[in-house]
Amino acid sequence: MLPYWVKKSFLNILLRISAFYFCSVHFIFWIYNAFFKQRQYVTPPNDRLLMISATQAVKMIASREISSTELIEAYIHRIEQVNETINAVVLKLFDSAREKAKKVDEFIQKNDDAEISQKIKQQPLFGVPFTIKDALEVEGEIITCGIFSRKDQKCERSAEAVIRMQNAGGILLAVTNVPEVCMWVEAVNTVYGRSKNPYDTRRMTGGSSGGEGALLGAAGSVIGLGSDIGGSIRMPSFFNGIFGLKPTPGVIPLSGHVPEPTGYKEQMLRIGPMCRFAEDLPLLLRILSGEENVAKLNLDEPVARKKLRIFYLEGISENPVLEPLSDDMRYALKRSVKLLERKYDLVAQRIELPLAKNVMEYFSLSMKQDTTDPEFNKMMLCLKGTKGEVNCYSEMVKFICGNSKHTLAAIITGILDSHDPFSEQQKKELLYKRDRLKRQITELLGNDGVLLFPSWPTTAKFHNEPICAPFNFCYTALWNVLAVPVVQCPLGLDKHGVPLGVQVIGNPLTDRNLIAVAQDLEEGFNGWAPAGPL
Ligand SMILES: *[C@@H]1O[C@H](CO)[C@@H](O)[C@H](O)[C@H]1NC(C)=O
Repeated sequence: MLPYWVKKSFLNILLRISAFYFCSVHFIFWIYNAFFKQRQYVTPPNDRLLMISATQAVKMIASREISSTELIEAYIHRIEQVNETINAVVLKLFDSAREKAKKVDEFIQKNDDAEISQKIKQQPLFGVPFTIKDALEVEGEIITCGIFSRKDQKCERSAEAVIRMQNAGGILLAVTNVPEVCMWVEAVNTVYGRSKNPYDTRRMTGGSSGGEGALLGAAGSVIGLGSDIGGSIRMPSFFNGIFGLKPTPGVIPLSGHVPEPTGYKEQMLRIGPMCRFAEDLPLLLRILSGEENVAKLNLDEPVARKKLRIFYLEGISENPVLEPLSDDMRYALKRSVKLLERKYDLVAQRIELPLAKNVMEYFSLSMKQDTTDPEFNKMMLCLKGTKGEVNCYSEMVKFICGNSKHTLAAIITGILDSHDPFSEQQKKELLYKRDRLKRQITELLGNDGVLLFPSWPTTAKFHNEPICAPFNFCYTALWNVLAVPVVQCPLGLDKHGVPLGVQVIGNPLTDRNLIAVAQDLEEGFNGWAPAGPL
């Protein structure tokens, strides 16, 4: 056994080397992008129809102020305007959307106010467009999950979450880009190419709901569905300046998700809403979770905001594989804490979670715990049937020669997935630590505690840069490992014109507290902000 001070000094040296490494990588990418690439961004929308929430839109359709057709046409026009720049949309369902909007408008014309308000009660998204990521099945459409071999395969059913949105009167308008097998932080694949950030096209959109985040951030959609097993709702929501909710496990069904999870992954993976306006979060959670769960989530009860207890944690420290928390992100976290302290008249408590530093180990073990899923290299080929498998090593050679149908991130993930670095004893120990950490959080937060935590170590990186900082997703993945609900909230733009944000975390079934805090942060920081000149 080494003495404590030796271990501590050794760790300190590693942490310095790590900080120097991340700093150098960023410097190199910054030089390249500043001198050889031009920042492009999506100009703000000037149509007022694009600036109202889904909640408002339904009211305006019901009161005949706007028609569903006008709303749909406004978004179709916007998608045509922005998609060229951000490559977020993989499937346009404009014709069927127009038909459905026409039916909505006919209903409104034919019926009186009482009948209309009855209709809206049953269908609270009556006539409002929505978009989804390319990983939720839609009957009769091609949903690829970014996998080349699925590019011509039509789905035989729709995901339950999509059906619930449609049953609520929502009109599916477009499907958006994802990384291969949804397992990377950049939305890039060999079927549809790379999506770009609407605030700065040189930067990543995040993943895996990256096209969804980019389209919403560009005001090309008002509400959408994403899914999140390691941050796939929250990362793109953060990088593109919008709200994203990873809800409590079990309230929104996962059927029809590509791939469908088994084992502990069923606790980790969540389908959830992404949107530009916080008032749409409760509406969407209600629709997606169904009546029986609305009661469980207490969605009808108002939140006693002044009785909340607020905690904050300044990132994950003492782990050299994670990039240190940037000053901008730390400042954003502190500003959000201050705002809540003032608003709720309380003192927030800063906490430390030393057990969190092993998050990467917890994540890789949790992904394999009790699972009967096909291995990753089989998923890269085809999810259904899993005929054969991809040899990731020969695929790596093909990739270098420029003729692979797979992405580098997926090939590396496939190689890593086929190795098991832990002994049985280590596994047991790590899972014990993970469960202790979970218990700490459960006991700390109770049913009135809310934890603020940075959305990521830095703001949106340049394209390909994440390959050099592959573990940064641990900032979001920690909360999948612990299976707790989280809302990502935008907090305005930094000096480079890219979004800042914070994660708001609570115990299972306290989603309504998190949404209430998100609404207050929206009021305090003006919520979603369109991209603009520097
Ligand atoms: C979105 O834009 C990209 C880039 O211009 C284009 O290649 C792609 O086909 C567009 N998507 C659709 C569905 O048209």
